Amino acid sequence: MSDSGNRQVYYHDYLQLDRLLDCQELESTKAGRTAHDEMLFIIVHQAYEIWFKQVLWELDAAARLFDSDVVEERDVGRAVRHLERIVEIQRVTIQQIDILETMTPLDFLDFRDFLIPASGFQSVQFRLIENKLGMRPEDRLNFGSSKYSARLRQDHRKVVEEVEVSTSLFDRIALWLDRTPFLRFGNYDFWSAYRGAVDEMLDHDAEAISGNSTLSPEQIERQLDGLATTRKQFEAVTRESDYEKLRAEGHFRMSHRAFTAALLVNLYRDEPILHVPFRLLQVLVDIDENFSTWRYRHALMVLRMLGAKIGTGGSSGHDYLRRVADHNKVFRDLFRVSTFLIPRSAIPVLPEGVRATMGFRYS
Ligand code: HEM
Repeated sequence: MSDSGNRQVYYHDYLQLDRLLDCQELESTKAGRTAHDEMLFIIVHQAYEIWFKQVLWELDAAARLFDSDVVEERDVGRAVRHLERIVEIQRVTIQQIDILETMTPLDFLDFRDFLIPASGFQSVQFRLIENKLGMRPEDRLNFGSSKYSARLRQDHRKVVEEVEVSTSLFDRIALWLDRTPFLRFGNYDFWSAYRGAVDEMLDHDAEAISGNSTLSPEQIERQLDGLATTRKQFEAVTRESDYEKLRAEGHFRMSHRAFTAALLVNLYRDEPILHVPFRLLQVLVDIDENFSTWRYRHALMVLRMLGAKIGTGGSSGHDYLRRVADHNKVFRDLFRVSTFLIPRSAIPVLPEGVRATMGFRYS
């Protein structure tokens, strides 16, 4: 290792390996019957917690870049790089499940009972990541009647709940979108051009459904009903009052301005000015998706290990985790944007003057 000042940095000391490698204490050994696989179980969990620490480090750095009222383009790019690193870490954490699955259910049973009532459910860093991203209590599926934080030690509960009510990455991104100048079209009526394109697309779909000879009259009616619902959703996005009604019912989370800005970034992502904002929105969707993938993989591993047994933390085990995987998401609005995308060929062409006003600073 390099020489800093007079002190020779020594690899083993720099990484504090004495401490790091001395903190694997097997409960089965303490009970006098060492279960070989408990070492793997501890090391995999510890590796997760180390990665969670790095994820929090990157999340905080990305969030800080959005704290100012004026976010320079280079800062958006820097935030994207922090978030892309999180995506790569998530991929590793998903793969790590394969290593743990080399432990068979019978091997797990050799030490499982020593762990009760501890559970990954009590991972403080995992909850901090969720909360810093922007998961609200109402976005969570609880097990039993108590809040997720009720199973944490008092000092941990305090930290996690403090973050729960502080400004999250979701809040920061929604505010930033809300402030973007992408919606300033001067005299150009973008939304009526967009509505025209949408109507044309949906009319075309209606014709295709009505003329589909493989469908029964009932099936045609059902599909046309579905199309009518889609049409209403499009109307809601172009009409703020309708959108706000849906938002009040919990269908959307960000403001109408923020949502339509996200839609425009997606529609006009080929404009050079929107490349970086588009990458930002994509990477947030990647993070949410990777979280879900991890949850599904973890739930399947739990099914394999426990079958229908309950978890050491007291939940219904696989059944609870599978439902959480379907349910808990943060950037739902950004997934929903896809509903309102139309084919490239139908996207209204922006007048030259409008494109020119898309400045290089997002204030
Ligand atoms: C043999 C391996 C594992 C089994 C059988 C298992 C089992 C479970 C069960 C049953 C739950 C639900 C709560 C409960 O009743 O305990 C849970 C939750 C959880 N586990 Fe695991 N787990 C395993 C490995 C891991 C690993 C390696 C991690 C990585 C940190 C982890 C992190 C979590 C987290 C974060 C939750 C809370 C999920 C949520 O509520 O959204 N688990 N686990």
